[in-house]
Amino acid sequence: MLREEFEVFNRYVYFNWASVGDPPKRSVKAIENYLEELKNRPEDLCSSTYYTEIIDNIKKNLIKIVKSKKENIGIVGNSTTPAIQTAMNSIKLEKGDEIIVFDLDFPTVYAESLKWKEKGINIRVIKNKNGFYDEDEVISEINNKTKVILTSSVFWVNGFKLDLNKIGKAIHDYDGFIVVDAIQHIGQEYFNTDNIDFIAFGTQKWLLSPFSLGILIVNDRALELTNPPNYGYLNLDVGMPWDQFWEDANKIPLNNYKIRKGIAQSYEFGGFYSVPSLIGFIYSLELMNEIGIDKIRDHIFDLRKILIEGLNELNLEIISPIDEREGSGIITFKLYKDVQENYKIVEELNKKFLIKVSGRGAAGIGGIRVSIHFPNEEIDVLKLLDALKKLK
Ligand SMILES: Cc1ncc(COP(=O)(O)O)c(C=O)c1O
Repeated sequence: MLREEFEVFNRYVYFNWASVGDPPKRSVKAIENYLEELKNRPEDLCSSTYYTEIIDNIKKNLIKIVKSKKENIGIVGNSTTPAIQTAMNSIKLEKGDEIIVFDLDFPTVYAESLKWKEKGINIRVIKNKNGFYDEDEVISEINNKTKVILTSSVFWVNGFKLDLNKIGKAIHDYDGFIVVDAIQHIGQEYFNTDNIDFIAFGTQKWLLSPFSLGILIVNDRALELTNPPNYGYLNLDVGMPWDQFWEDANKIPLNNYKIRKGIAQSYEFGGFYSVPSLIGFIYSLELMNEIGIDKIRDHIFDLRKILIEGLNELNLEIISPIDEREGSGIITFKLYKDVQENYKIVEELNKKFLIKVSGRGAAGIGGIRVSIHFPNEEIDVLKLLDALKKLK
């Protein structure tokens, strides 16, 4: 769908959206236009009216694909990591408290685990069973000490999708929080945020946006029960419009300023935004909304079905969920038992067939990761299957 917007197909059969998305032509053009304008009128392009409108436009588009409200959306740093760090740092944890993490998760979780372990927090790691987790088993691990569950919604290695609403409800019963990394999920299907306190994601993969944006969605419960950890000038409630504030000759450091409460914006770092990235993001979101998130989901799952059938015909081992409820646009499979041998196939697909996929592994599982997004067509899947037949 709208394939002509994606120049990557001029070079490759592209199945690597889980690594990085290809920004559509219209987003790149919009950034070029912005930079051209910036040369002539830099002041206009950093006025609060100008960027407030841009951010409002992003939020308006984002709430069509994520169940949220504009007040719950913050722009936090330049990728997923600072958004996760911000969420985690906003929760009050004490020595002896516990955080639950998942062994298949992305290395951001390794870093958070290290950080909190150094502060005396216990880290409980849930082990996958052949790439899967059972929600009821996860819930049975929660106890009075558990304060946070930190997890991806779709796991990066094999695309397994966790039922977060169920787990979120369970941790709330213990007055804890759930922090979700949704970068491998948002943009593939409508994202239901019920019972999720924090949702962190960069925009550079499934949201097809140029780099350098982190988004943090903070639900009403978390806005009430946690504290923004970053104190920046843009987070301050200065009691007057910004233009007036700049001119106010009476302002001094300790003037009873407060960090704004009750909106996700107060979780932002408070420095100036990466405006070119914001502009690119608007156009990518608009394009996705032009198609519609449900159509995008159906297209991904139609192609996924064709791929799974083809892999089964080739007798290849699939280490992603087959059940659609647990599945996503990420399908990982193996030609060989030894994970490393499969990575050679990744190389050959690239070199001999100009097909881009990834080799990925963690916590005992791994293989050839194919990620399917709406710009892909059936012909791409057939080319991949044909190449695999030749390499087998
Ligand atoms: C689950 C997950 N989280 C985070 C990231 C990347 O983090 P950041 O956006 O901070 O670079 C990736 C990228 O591969 C990922 O798969």
